[in-house]
Amino acid sequence: MTDSLTVRDNRTGLEYDVPILDGAIKAADLGKIKAGDDTPGLAVYDPGFVNTASCRSSVTYIDGEKGILEYRGFPIEQLAEKSSFLEVAYLLINGALPTKAEYDAWVHEITYHTFVHENVKSFMQGFRYDAHPMGMLMASVGALSTFYPDARNISDADNRHMQIVRMIAKMPTLGAWAFRHAQGKPYVYPDNDLGYTANFLSMLFKMSESKFEADERLVRALDVLFILHADHEQNCSTNAVRSVGSSQVDPYSAVAAGVGALYGPLHGGANEAVLRMLRRIGSKENIPSFIEGVKNGNEKLMGFGHRVYKNFDPRATIIKKACDDVFEVTGVNPLLEIAKELEKIALEDEYFIKRKLYPNVDFYSGLIYEAFQFPPEMFTVLFAIGRTPGWLAQWSELVQDKEQKIARPKQIYTGPRTLDFTPASERWA
Ligand code: SDX
Repeated sequence: MTDSLTVRDNRTGLEYDVPILDGAIKAADLGKIKAGDDTPGLAVYDPGFVNTASCRSSVTYIDGEKGILEYRGFPIEQLAEKSSFLEVAYLLINGALPTKAEYDAWVHEITYHTFVHENVKSFMQGFRYDAHPMGMLMASVGALSTFYPDARNISDADNRHMQIVRMIAKMPTLGAWAFRHAQGKPYVYPDNDLGYTANFLSMLFKMSESKFEADERLVRALDVLFILHADHEQNCSTNAVRSVGSSQVDPYSAVAAGVGALYGPLHGGANEAVLRMLRRIGSKENIPSFIEGVKNGNEKLMGFGHRVYKNFDPRATIIKKACDDVFEVTGVNPLLEIAKELEKIALEDEYFIKRKLYPNVDFYSGLIYEAFQFPPEMFTVLFAIGRTPGWLAQWSELVQDKEQKIARPKQIYTGPRTLDFTPASERWA
């Protein structure tokens, strides 16, 4: 037995040996299978890339059947319990845990790059009062490429490092300012005396007090949420970052594309959609009719289902526990009871069991964010802040991967061919 396929093309009777490597075959090997000399070789049709590997990566490992998630080989459960977001960010970007000297240098660099150019304030003020903060974040991340034109020098490792530090450092500032803009409150500048997550809370909620003091339990809970969102292999937004990054554009433009993909309700926008769904359900008594709506195809159970996880999302398990820590400080979110009852009913219902639909990372996270007094439209901004190190780790891996090429998939053409064009003057005469 060998690690290969023998494919017989019944159109020609020819047989082809296709090597199997790492559980995959190369699409290029299928391209050699032709019906005739002047016909194109076989392609693979895979909408949404459900069964297509786009890259080799050592950043994150997921086992959807077993509910396993590891960053650079470390189980998410251990990182969430014992690490910090900036240490996890270092791990994702550099592929190894930092020494103390490396960690201190990393934290210093991130801390002293949290400020953004003053002009960012003026174009942020150009948005309408009700602009969605994800639209503002996408625009401002893309705009950063104009403030750091040297970022297009992506082949230089030191330059890549500088842009990675800047983006991880500035994402909370941009997110906080988008929040303050929506509230009509003055922007709060970074406070370099505070840690990464405490500083983010200060830029969000500080008012006239001289120093913002966040409850350490809330700081820790948000730091853990950032860890849980830090990377997730080739999800939709990471695929966007890699696809745009494959044109060798600067990392700000590539990450802005990732922010755009994350914005969608099927992806990072789901946490906002879950809160709106729970509010719309309103009470436990309304759950059965809502579930019927889902089965009739009139509703989606937002926060449920996943392309990879088919038993449980390990992050949802951790977040559900984190709810208790946060609610100890803020008081229980009344929507929690509806969420728990919804989960209980769904997990016993054949419709969801058959489709392997379980709570994902977005199902409970919104309840915590709301307890922090974030409005639902800010939830995906929090996801984006957490995901930034993952996007950048994947981008950096792409840029250094000799096997990678510009992303340009094939298509199956279904339109008309070789039509004769009649000029408008004749068509409309
Ligand atoms: C994230 O990929 C990642 O890693 C993403 C992420 C990350 O960290 O980056 O984990 C973050 O995006 C989590 C997912 C957040 N999205 C939601 O919660 C939105 C609701 N979920 C779905 O839209 C859906 O489950 C997806 C988008 C998450 C996954 O979609 P797939 O893999 O394309 O699955 P599918 O749409 O083909 O669904 C399979 C079946 C279908 O039923 P049938 O047509 O076969 O009858 O399950 C049904 C779907 O209709 N289904 C749902 C459902 N999700 C899937 N039915 C009701 N409610 C749902 N939530």
